[in-house]
Amino acid sequence: MSADEFKDWAWGVWSFPGESGKRIGHEAPFPLELPRRLVKPPSFPGDTALDPFVGSGTTMIASMAHGRVALGIELETKHCRLAINRINQEFGAKLETSSAETAARATLPCWTI
Ligand SMILES: C[S@@+](CC[C@H](N)C(=O)[O-])C[C@H]1O[C@@H](n2cnc3c(N)ncnc32)[C@H](O)[C@@H]1O
Repeated sequence: MSADEFKDWAWGVWSFPGESGKRIGHEAPFPLELPRRLVKPPSFPGDTALDPFVGSGTTMIASMAHGRVALGIELETKHCRLAINRINQEFGAKLETSSAETAARATLPCWTI
């Protein structure tokens, strides 16, 4: 991280806009800036970030955008599908949303990328 990022993120109170649940399609999405500031300083590219409450996938997106391996767990199949769709859109990936359903059918509320 840059010296300016360190000064800005390590001291003072963070201030950035929230995220709209309606826009994202999830009840409680984080603004991307929040996981970005939590993932980048304590890890390096190639490290793995685990989010056990994926929701719409914001932490996975922030992690992947900074070269981290993203690993996620989500209880609700519909949220898994939303996160996969957002990741596909963000990175031009072609992850199958059916993998979320397969995990749900196997009563294994868990998937990884
Ligand atoms: C506050 S939301 C996370 C929002 C996420 N940070 C985002 O930006 O979209 C919490 C998520 O945890 C999921 N969840 C709740 N209990 C869970 C559990 N036991 N295992 C896995 N996921 C769970 C919920 O379905 C919900 O999508």
